[in-house]
Amino acid sequence: MKKHIEIILAIAVGFAFSSCSKLQNNVLAPASVQDVVHPAGWTDLNSSEFHGTYIKQHNYDLATCASCHGADYRGGISGKSCYTCHEETNGPLACNTCHGSLNNAAPPPDLSGNTSTTDPGVGAHQSHLAGNSYLSSVACSSCHVVPQAAGPGIHPFGTQSALVAFSGVATTETNTPGSRFYDSTQPTVVPQPMFNQQTLECSNTYCHGDFKNGNNYTPTWNKTTSGQAACGTCHGIPPNTPIHRGQTMQTCYLCHEPMIGPNGVIQDSSLHVNGKLELYGKSLSVW
Ligand code: HEC
Ligand code: HEC
Ligand code: HEC
Ligand code: HEC
Ligand code: HEC
Ligand code: HEC
Repeated sequence: MKKHIEIILAIAVGFAFSSCSKLQNNVLAPASVQDVVHPAGWTDLNSSEFHGTYIKQHNYDLATCASCHGADYRGGISGKSCYTCHEETNGPLACNTCHGSLNNAAPPPDLSGNTSTTDPGVGAHQSHLAGNSYLSSVACSSCHVVPQAAGPGIHPFGTQSALVAFSGVATTETNTPGSRFYDSTQPTVVPQPMFNQQTLECSNTYCHGDFKNGNNYTPTWNKTTSGQAACGTCHGIPPNTPIHRGQTMQTCYLCHEPMIGPNGVIQDSSLHVNGKLELYGKSLSVW
């Protein structure tokens, strides 16, 4: 039964929330008389009846919303467009509506609103995406199957937890038969990366050293301040092999320029952890 009541919508003064996506939140009309289908706190972020919370609790069932607000979410039979607040391209289906921020769609915040890197949903996302002076940034697709679009039946599925599925640089094969430095005494390394949801450890990734003469280091996803990406974790400085005997940070550049320069300074991080061995001035994609 549809209730007809007169409501005064609270003016959104002090409607305080941490804005994740680009939202226009001052459109709550000062007063209006309407057919009310939603509970009073539906547009109040601080209410337990807030529509965002409702959607989350109902497995992100956006199809129901679309039945009245239109398949394009621009009003439909309700006449109320989602775009009045969800101003970004694709409105409520923008990639940062349910996770991530204006910077990118990766947490923080995670699906539960958590923002600390110790929270599993947040973890080391931003350090991977930003990269640093010596490590290149990692694409979402290295660790997830990335949806091309959001919407009913496409994404999300409301499983409330993400699927980690590695590909790309994370699975780079090394010591490939026929390659210039192929070592027949060692196996060909075909990384089979694993993310352990209990321990939050990532193992067998090319990136962290599952390659020929690498350390196959096992980092923990939510410990971003404990030196897990320090020089020497993923591979030795230098690796423990005959050609590297006696080499120091000051000499790497002799064979690994232009990635690294004199004095052991990494000059081009886009050439590091890129799935290719920089050697004698060339990028070897098979090694
Ligand atoms: C049965 C039809 C119907 C369904 C289903 C429906 N809505 Fe609505 N919605 C309306 C109508 C009519 C209004 C305007 C009256 C009101 O605010 O209650 C409205 C208003 C709103 C508003 C306030 C808009 C504004 O500009 O103030 C929001 C937000 C909203 N709906 C979100 C949702 C979401 C999210 C869903 C899915 C979980 C949903 N609606 C499902 C009919 C519907
Ligand atoms: C009155 C402004 C307003 C309108 C209209 C509105 N939203 Fe929202 N919506 C918000 C705000 C504010 C948030 C919280 C964003 C945040 O946490 O930064 C939000 C959050 C959401 C979320 C995220 C849920 C989550 O994971 O936390 C979804 C999905 C969503 N809205 C869908 C809709 C849909 C669908 C409509 C139209 C039917 C709609 N919204 C209309 C203001 C609005
Ligand atoms: C280096 C690997 C890696 C990259 C790159 C990465 N993710 Fe993740 N992502 C993870 C891991 C690990 C989890 C945690 C899964 C878990 O806790 O079960 C996760 C979880 C998530 C979650 C769920 C958060 C929650 O609340 O549980 C979302 C959403 C997500 N990632 C989106 C993205 C997007 C979008 C990008 C790119 C902009 C991205 N990720 C890049 C590894 C990655
Ligand atoms: C309506 C909310 C919502 C929107 C909009 C949304 N996501 Fe998600 N996203 C989720 C949820 C919930 C999950 C957890 C897995 C699931 O339930 O499907 C997730 C998980 C992910 C993951 C982790 C891999 C996976 O599928 O588990 C990636 C990557 C991701 N989203 C990218 C995107 C991109 C890119 C867009 C825009 C095209 C987008 N998301 C739009 C809610 C959303
Ligand atoms: C997160 C893991 C990781 C860390 C930390 C790391 N490396 Fe690497 N490094 C790799 C990988 C993977 C390769 C294999 C080649 C590639 O993909 O660039 C590599 C290759 C190299 C090479 C060979 C040239 C090349 O890029 O192909 C040099 C030299 C090198 N690293 C120096 C360093 C120095 C110096 C540091 C510390 C400042 C460092 N690495 C820290 C993962 C790492
Ligand atoms: C004299 C030339 C030379 C110098 C100097 C040198 N490397 Fe190498 N490096 C090589 C060659 C050749 C390979 C390929 C060897 C192979 O795959 O068997 C290699 C490969 C690597 C790899 C990939 C793992 C491997 O063994 O295949 C890493 C990582 C690496 N070097 C790091 C370093 C670092 C760090 C330094 C400086 C401390 C350094 N190298 C100095 C010649 C050199």
